[in-house]
Amino acid sequence: MAKILILFGTNYGQTRKVANHIAEVVRSRGHDVEEAQGNKLPDDFTPKDFDAAIIGTSINLGVHQISIRKLVKNNEAAFNSMPCAYFCVCLSAYGTKPQDKEQVDKFLNDFIQYTGLKPVKTAAFAGALRYPYYNFVRRFAAKLVARRVGADTYTKNEYEYTNWEAVTKFTTDFVDSL
Ligand SMILES: Cc1cc2nc3c(=O)[nH]c(=O)nc-3n(C[C@H](O)[C@H](O)[C@H](O)COP(=O)(O)O)c2cc1C
Repeated sequence: MAKILILFGTNYGQTRKVANHIAEVVRSRGHDVEEAQGNKLPDDFTPKDFDAAIIGTSINLGVHQISIRKLVKNNEAAFNSMPCAYFCVCLSAYGTKPQDKEQVDKFLNDFIQYTGLKPVKTAAFAGALRYPYYNFVRRFAAKLVARRVGADTYTKNEYEYTNWEAVTKFTTDFVDSL
């Protein structure tokens, strides 16, 4: 039984939902799990307490959560001394055009290049649009991204695009390889 860290960043909650799903799957495989949100870590947090890590960020206006990027970069050696998987949650992963795929690859590579992390597995999952909870500026920005990738633009509704089977498979593939 391994002790697995699930470290995530979120702006609007969808990556926490993905992290919770991953945690359930990891537990169902008989491992110990600790979920940690990048900007709410206890002072004594250290990745050295874990045997493996699954790290996730979401994308907001083209950038990952800075708290996670810094944390992983500052603990590069510790993370790279254990098996790590990395996932990104964004709307571009919903798109089907070649430029959407390029964008997703860029999000994944940007994180890896900035932090120096060497994940054994990566994935990008489509996120959610919760228009009623955004302020005017965010709603406008989200709508622009939605239009670009062919997602919904009717702002009175919420939409969830995450493929939970893909999240489960990503997790079991990683965990079963440990
Ligand atoms: C204001 C705003 C900006 C966004 N910018 C991008 C973007 O630049 N690229 C992208 O692929 N998705 C973008 N998204 C979609 C988010 O990545 C998606 O909603 C995701 O589910 C957010 O995850 P979180 O709730 O964990 O933060 C944006 C969403 C909002 C609300």
